[in-house]
Amino acid sequence: MSSTIQKAKQVLKNNWKEGFTIPCEGLYPFQWFWDSGFIALGWAHIDMKKAQQEIRSLLNGQWKNGFIPHIIFHNESDTYFPGPEVYAASLSKNSPEIPTSGITQPPVTGFILEEMYGIAEDKEDFLTFLDEVYEAIYKNHEYFYTHRDPEKEGLVYICHNWEAGTDNTPVWDFIWETFKVPDYQLDRRDTKLIDASHRPTNKEYQYYIHLVELFKTWNYDDTLIAENSPFLIQDPLFNSMLMASNQSMIRLGKLLGKNSEVKQLKEWNEKAKVSFQKKLYDEVQQGYVYYDLRNQRHLPYLSSSSFTPLFAEIPSQITAEALVSHFRNGKFSGVNHENFLCASFDPSSEFFNSQKYWRGPIWINLNWLIYKGLKKYNFEAEAQRIKEDTLYLINKYGFYEYFEPNKEKNKSLEKGYGGTNFSWSAALTIDLLTN
Ligand code: GLC
Repeated sequence: MSSTIQKAKQVLKNNWKEGFTIPCEGLYPFQWFWDSGFIALGWAHIDMKKAQQEIRSLLNGQWKNGFIPHIIFHNESDTYFPGPEVYAASLSKNSPEIPTSGITQPPVTGFILEEMYGIAEDKEDFLTFLDEVYEAIYKNHEYFYTHRDPEKEGLVYICHNWEAGTDNTPVWDFIWETFKVPDYQLDRRDTKLIDASHRPTNKEYQYYIHLVELFKTWNYDDTLIAENSPFLIQDPLFNSMLMASNQSMIRLGKLLGKNSEVKQLKEWNEKAKVSFQKKLYDEVQQGYVYYDLRNQRHLPYLSSSSFTPLFAEIPSQITAEALVSHFRNGKFSGVNHENFLCASFDPSSEFFNSQKYWRGPIWINLNWLIYKGLKKYNFEAEAQRIKEDTLYLINKYGFYEYFEPNKEKNKSLEKGYGGTNFSWSAALTIDLLTN
């Protein structure tokens, strides 16, 4: 077994906390929604029981209306801000006993379960587990389509930048300029743990906290949020994750004989596919972009999220070719292939910053999604390239949170960026090296 896999396993083992896995010691000391999905996939290669427990622990935080929060505070820790007291999720009539945040994250669980099923040696045992969790995931999809799609078009919105997972992509700058925020006192811990220049600014954090404060005044009521939130976005990554999960839930539902759920999931997904292509594809940019539902406009910027519809098999082959052109002497590769794939934001943009969180650096989960998406469309050369770039960075630096895209800059760098011993970087490396 390769030493990289051994080291990756050790990261997961160190971050395992009695039933769930933290993304990163100190920086992210609780259970996070989409992290858990990618982490469960890593565990599935090592210890299927732990992978299943990861999902069960996530579902312990599910709300009565099917909503799954982005953080579940199973444990206490004083190294992270904002904690459960800031969210005050108990203001919602739907929140569970266990403290959680009040916002969600990309719904990856459906397709993760299908990946886990593919890995499981004992398929029958896995189907028993699947039967146990299927309804909860289905309810989560139902929540999205009944509470987060006010125009009934099959596209769901996010109401907070942290719901996107791509926390401070430059795209959000254009939302922040549409409203004002009070000068909140912030008790930030992240900037005490790692290089502050790699993290969002205090001003950005004011916006993040202000949105939470607004949701609290509405007791996390989705109707009030849809009517009033200044941040209401249809995000190509988020909707791709939901649609890929729909498709997996359809196939898994058939194995379990869940006929009415399968029928409903198909209806949601077909409608979503049409709207997605119509509303989120930008002909000028030649890629999928965000739609600002509050201000009824496109936010026409390319990011790594723009390529994730490949994973959900949304584009036609012609549209997929247009997307891939950005990796062939295009914007993301650089005309002379001067960048590793795939920067989190368009490297040719004036807003690109190669070191700062989601404003440019490479993230392993996005690379994994794009790699898998390219494979689905038989773009073998580009798929291999993104895989090789990913493994090069991991082998050179270890399991950092994000990485420098520019090849020249990498020559003199000694470290990756952000947190280290980061769980999904380790988990997805195991998957890439095992498949
Ligand atoms: C960062 C990432 C987010 C992730 C979280 C925990 O905030 O932006 O996507 O879920 O860390 O790892």
